[in-house]
Amino acid sequence: MAAILVTGAAGQLGCELVHALAPLGEVVGVDRAQLDLADPGAIVATVRRVKPALIVNAGAYTSVDLAEKEPALAEAVNGVAPGVLAEEAKRAGALLVHWSTDYVFDGAAGAPYDEDAPARPLSSYGRSKLAGERAVAASGARALVFRTSWVYGRRGRNFLLTMQRLAAERPEIRVVDDQTGVPNWCRDLARATARLASHGLPWLAERGGLYHMSARGSTTWYGFARAILAGVASARVVPITSAEYPTPARRPAYGVLGTARFERTFGFALPDWHTSLAECLASDPDPAMGAVGG
Ligand SMILES: NC(=O)c1ccc[n+]([C@@H]2O[C@H](COP(=O)([O-])OP(=O)(O)OC[C@H]3O[C@@H](n4cnc5c(N)ncnc54)[C@H](OP(=O)(O)O)[C@@H]3O)[C@@H](O)[C@H]2O)c1
Repeated sequence: MAAILVTGAAGQLGCELVHALAPLGEVVGVDRAQLDLADPGAIVATVRRVKPALIVNAGAYTSVDLAEKEPALAEAVNGVAPGVLAEEAKRAGALLVHWSTDYVFDGAAGAPYDEDAPARPLSSYGRSKLAGERAVAASGARALVFRTSWVYGRRGRNFLLTMQRLAAERPEIRVVDDQTGVPNWCRDLARATARLASHGLPWLAERGGLYHMSARGSTTWYGFARAILAGVASARVVPITSAEYPTPARRPAYGVLGTARFERTFGFALPDWHTSLAECLASDPDPAMGAVGG
């Protein structure tokens, strides 16, 4: 395969993708310093310089609460940039893989969302990500858009690392127990992406469209915290309501993504989230090192 361009290469998912895709071609990972996704001209210049056959857009403005204060920047990075990447992919005959979020939904459902469920984001972040999905679709580029949820790993900024830090600092951690979703280990998402790409780009392009890529099962943030800290005797985790933990951005009360279309189309499912969490906790933060001690 010719070059693979991965944006947001220093992020949780981007870093794993750079590693997971390496056996498939020459991966050019660019972080924010090398490609500012808020700058459409820089996107165009980078794609034309790298000439990728596959563009994987893992870069995103992911500070959900800050996005309420910086909606224009969130929109530029999450809403506009995916469309520019898609236009460039189309121009070059490349395939685009793009990532989106369960936060495009309002959380009023009581059963897993399928891809065609109406999107009604509650936050600036969710609106910007929905705009990105729509820009990719409107471009007519060959593209796959994967919505996922609650991404975590052993490095970067995420809930797992926050819980581990708080457990070391505090006798008690209060965690929201009325938001239900699915934790996704970034390494699982990267491995699944590489597995799909290993079939070849024509095969993948034929299956273009919008998919929910998520681990099996579901939990609340409280349930996830309990599982993360299960082996930490000193940690006391207390369930609270969202009302007791006000945040600038509203989050969906229910964000479980139904994965039937993904499984039907690609013939495999991601593991249950408990299985992945156990593997993650036993793994090395550096994707090149794989599992340790497990
Ligand atoms: N994290 C989640 O819980 C979650 C849930 C559902 C879906 N997703 C989606 O999954 C994808 C991967 O997210 P992630 O968890 O890997 O997020 P992440 O760890 O925050 O990584 C995103 C990367 O994008 C970079 N970035 C931010 N603004 C940029 C800009 N203007 N130009 C270039 N790069 C920029 C960030 O750089 P800095 O570190 O310098 O800001 C960061 O390295 C995103 O599309 C996200 O929306 C994430």
